[in-house]
Amino acid sequence: MAPKEGEAPPRTILEFLGRASAFLANRGIPSARLDAEVLLAHVLGVRRLDLYLEHERRLAPREVDAYRDLLRRRGEREPVAHLTGEREFFGLRFRVSPAVLVPRPETEGLVEEALDFLRGREAEGRGTLAADVGTGSGCVAVALARGIPSLRLLATDRSSAALAVARENARAHGVERRVRFARADFLEAVLDRSLDLVVSNPPYVDPAGKDALPPEVRDHEPPEALFVPAADPLAFVRALATGAARVLRPGGLLLLEIAAGSREAVEAELLRSGLREVSFRRDLAGFDRIARSGPG
Ligand SMILES: C[S@@+](CC[C@H](N)C(=O)[O-])C[C@H]1O[C@@H](n2cnc3c(N)ncnc32)[C@H](O)[C@@H]1O
Repeated sequence: MAPKEGEAPPRTILEFLGRASAFLANRGIPSARLDAEVLLAHVLGVRRLDLYLEHERRLAPREVDAYRDLLRRRGEREPVAHLTGEREFFGLRFRVSPAVLVPRPETEGLVEEALDFLRGREAEGRGTLAADVGTGSGCVAVALARGIPSLRLLATDRSSAALAVARENARAHGVERRVRFARADFLEAVLDRSLDLVVSNPPYVDPAGKDALPPEVRDHEPPEALFVPAADPLAFVRALATGAARVLRPGGLLLLEIAAGSREAVEAELLRSGLREVSFRRDLAGFDRIARSGPG
C-alpha cells in the first residue's frame, strides 16, 4: 500500500481506509472496504464504528506497519478471520486458526434447529445428551452449550489441532465442564444408544470443484474440513447416518448440514441407514441446507 509518486502519504484513519480499500479492490477482493475496516479496527483494538467516530485520529508508526502487513496478506487472499484470529458465530466470538474451518453463517441454521429440538426436550423435563461430530472450532457445540445450560455434549473431530482450538473456545465461553472433546472418527467414540441429538456439519465439497473455490477457501482452509472422498461423495453422510441410527435414543434427532443440490441423494442415504421422517430446512439463498431425521 505504498503511496504512488506525487501522492501524499495517508495519516488519518479515514485516509488509510480510503487507500487500503482501493489497494484491496485492486487485488480483486470483493469486500474491500469492509475488510479494510475490520483489519484496521483489529490493529487499533477498537470497534469498526469507532473508526468513524475517531476518523481524524493519526496512526502511530507501529500501527501503520502492522496494518500494512495485514493488508499485504489480505491482498494475497488470506482469509480475514485468519488475520484477526477470530470470527463471530451465533452472536459469540470464536478463536479460529488455519487448523479449523472458519464458521459460516449458514451453520447458524444448524444451531437454531438443534436449540428448537433441545428446548422441546427440556420442556418435557428430560436431561439431554448431544454430540457435535466434526466440531472444528467448536462453534456449534459451544453455541448449543451456551443456549441450553443443562446440556452435556460430546464434541469429536479427527484433527487434534482442531480439537485444541475447540477446547480453547469452550473455555473462553465457560462451557468446558459440559463439553467433552474426543479425537475420534465420526461417532465411533459413542458405544451405546445414549444420545438425544447428533449434529454435524461434515465436509461436503466435491474435490472436482476445487479450482472454482475462492482462494481464501481453496488455499487456506484445511482440506480435511472441506472435501468429500472423490470416489464416494456420500461416504460421510452414510457414516453419520449409520452412526446416528446406532446411538440415538427413540425420539432422538440427527441434524446434518448438507451440500446445495444434494437433497435427494442425502434423503435416500438417510432412509437406507434406517432413519425416518426426513425433512429439510432451506438456507437464506433458498438451498435445502439442513437435513433432519431420526430413529422414530
Ligand atoms: C465442515 S468442518 C465443520 C467444522 C465446524 N463444526 C463448523 O461447522 O464450523 C468439518 C470438520 O469435520 C472434521 N472431520 C473430517 N472427517 C472426520 C471424521 N471422519 N471424523 C470426525 N471428524 C471429521 C474436520 O476435521 C472438520 O473439523
